Amino acid sequence: MLILGIESSCDDTGVAIVEDGKRVLASCVSNQTTIHAAFGGVVPEIAAREHLSNIYPLFEEALHLAGIKAEELGAIAVTQGPGLVGALLVGISFAKGLASSLAVPLIPVDHVHAHIHGALLALPAETVVSSLFPGLALVVSGGHTHLYLMTSAISFTLLASSVDDACGECFDKVAKIMGLPYPGGPVIERLARQGRLARFPMPRMLANKKQRAFSYSGLKTHMAALIRNLPPLDEQTKADLACGFQEEAFGQIIRKVKLIAGDLPYPLQSLLVAGGVAANGRFRELLQAELGGEKGAGGERMKQGLVPSLYFPRLEYCADNGAMIAAYGWYRMLEGGASQNFAAQSWDAYSSYRYAKSEAG
Ligand code: KG4
Ligand code: ZN
Repeated sequence: MLILGIESSCDDTGVAIVEDGKRVLASCVSNQTTIHAAFGGVVPEIAAREHLSNIYPLFEEALHLAGIKAEELGAIAVTQGPGLVGALLVGISFAKGLASSLAVPLIPVDHVHAHIHGALLALPAETVVSSLFPGLALVVSGGHTHLYLMTSAISFTLLASSVDDACGECFDKVAKIMGLPYPGGPVIERLARQGRLARFPMPRMLANKKQRAFSYSGLKTHMAALIRNLPPLDEQTKADLACGFQEEAFGQIIRKVKLIAGDLPYPLQSLLVAGGVAANGRFRELLQAELGGEKGAGGERMKQGLVPSLYFPRLEYCADNGAMIAAYGWYRMLEGGASQNFAAQSWDAYSSYRYAKSEAG
């Protein structure tokens, strides 16, 4: 079945067509980064207006790239939340109208869960998806630092999340303090490659506590105080700061994943990593080295890791996109998560605030 995926939760408009949750026929994304860069972050009202002007042209482009007519779509999946309410409403309204006119099912999906399907899209064709579970799923993005236990492609139990800033948000804020452009993640990663780790030792967040959570605001405050007491930053100093900061930002995630996984009563089959920060090469390297097993040249197990295999999205599916929405929609559809009854739709956009409350139970 061909599923159209629509994403409009933040500053990327994504429209994609995916067959049976696996084969991406088209994935079109309109990125608003340069528009929001002048403000140092996403302006919700501007984001909503941009989605409004981008969504229909992207839909037409996706149909064109996939070489299909709208009538061939079997269902429509759309991000329901969490996200910016005005931005979400654009995607949801478009999806509802289209599903109604085509008389196809509409599948509301959770944006954070959908990110994980960005990683599942990278699986080799022969991998049986159910063999990855029970597994851990880590979403590290501009809005979320969430660790889940997954027991199927649609069942997520939240094990830990950030008590304050998200990891990607912290990269963006630290970059701003250092006078670097938005978004900060890719710039910090680039600078960190030339940096010396020993120059700026970083404090460990939540270090003395057995708290099963992540925290980034203390690291950001530490960086702000450190930089305030330094002379104007030269290139080497920026690189050294970026290097120290990045290692601790990722070190915390690795320590907490080990701690939390240690509580689980059964062996884990995989770690799926997704979200904008999963594009970071150093992050992938550290996760693989610290949590993955080690295999010899012949594929034999050399060192037992926390998980036998880790999966990361292809770079274009790390940040927000419609393909991950359509792919997740397929698995939701298999489980009966779609609605045919448009008039009686009771679901609507939900914001990060309501999301945090509902996940906390
Ligand atoms: O997933 P995403 O597009 O947005 C949300 O759904 O939140 O992630 C965007 C975030 C930004 O904070 C950006 O700085 C961060 O991902 N990011 C990175 C890298 N590329 C993007 N962080 C660290 N290293 C990168 N290479
Ligand atoms: Zn996202």
